Amino acid sequence: MLILGIDTSCDETACAVVGEGFRVLSEATRTHDEHKAFGGVVPELAARAHIRLLPRLVLLSLERAGISWKDLDGIAATLGPGLPGALMVGVVFAKTAAQALKLPFVGVNHLEGHIFSLLLTQKLDPPFLALIASGGHTDLVQVKAWGQYSVLARTRDDAVGECFDKVARILGLGYPGGPEIERLASGGNPDFHEFPVPRMEELGFSYSGLKTSFLYYTMRQEPGFVAENLPHICASFQEAAFRQLVEVCSRGIKLTGVKNIAVVGGVSVNRALREMFLREFGESVFFPEPRYSTDNGAMIAAAGLFRLERGLRSSMSVGVYPNWEL
Ligand code: KG4
Ligand code: ZN
Repeated sequence: MLILGIDTSCDETACAVVGEGFRVLSEATRTHDEHKAFGGVVPELAARAHIRLLPRLVLLSLERAGISWKDLDGIAATLGPGLPGALMVGVVFAKTAAQALKLPFVGVNHLEGHIFSLLLTQKLDPPFLALIASGGHTDLVQVKAWGQYSVLARTRDDAVGECFDKVARILGLGYPGGPEIERLASGGNPDFHEFPVPRMEELGFSYSGLKTSFLYYTMRQEPGFVAENLPHICASFQEAAFRQLVEVCSRGIKLTGVKNIAVVGGVSVNRALREMFLREFGESVFFPEPRYSTDNGAMIAAAGLFRLERGLRSSMSVGVYPNWEL
């Protein structure tokens, strides 16, 4: 079975062809540059960029896989969560192509896609806990079986990736903030300053306090201090951001008795995060290949393939779900 996967949920137009055993045959992805000047994603610009890029990238992914339209067994696209206009482009394209080719269309939840990113390069059997750490979500999910999830914890305010992006903005860095902060933090001392780690009674995440504390900390300093100590300040920020993730995951493990934990989503590409989780959980922690941590078409194709192999398909009348939770 061969499936084309499309993700247009945010500022990346991503396509991939995936085959049996979740083998990635090809990928074609473009990240939109036009948002950089605005310090964040501009929804209307994202939708326009998807319209411009998607047809070319789909053709490129077929060409790279060495196949044509008629070799496909299905087409999957992200229905949500994401930006409404951006999602619409991918879904309308996928449904139109599926209709014309008389192929099944499979609508995919982007967050489930992140969980399936694990299977693109390794085998992993449930039960396990999955921490989805991305720009829009910080969810701890119990994966009881593939396709069967129960959410244990969500963020009460900001997502961890969003916190990276906002802190980067405070420092006058570009968007997205995560890669820049990771680069600056390497070689910095994570114990330079102790940023707060919230400890709540109920299982949950909160990142708005860390953002505010970071803002006040930088505002309090003498001119030049922040610039001189940037690696240490970024490393200390990362330490607090990831400490919270580790602590909530530990509590989730104790609560459920589930031993294995996987960390997925854009933030899981971060090496300091991976090292902290490995120190804490050793052989029980799993990550996607770094290139499949951030948004990609292959994870959407994989989640679509899982459904297609079980005879599931979506109705052609299905719309987009910008606020779809797992
Ligand atoms: O999963 P993703 O690509 O898109 C969403 O579904 O949101 O995640 C994007 C988020 C952004 O907030 C970005 O700043 C963060 O992932 N990110 C990182 C790193 N690379 C991307 N955060 C920390 N360290 C990184 N190296
Ligand atoms: Zn994502």
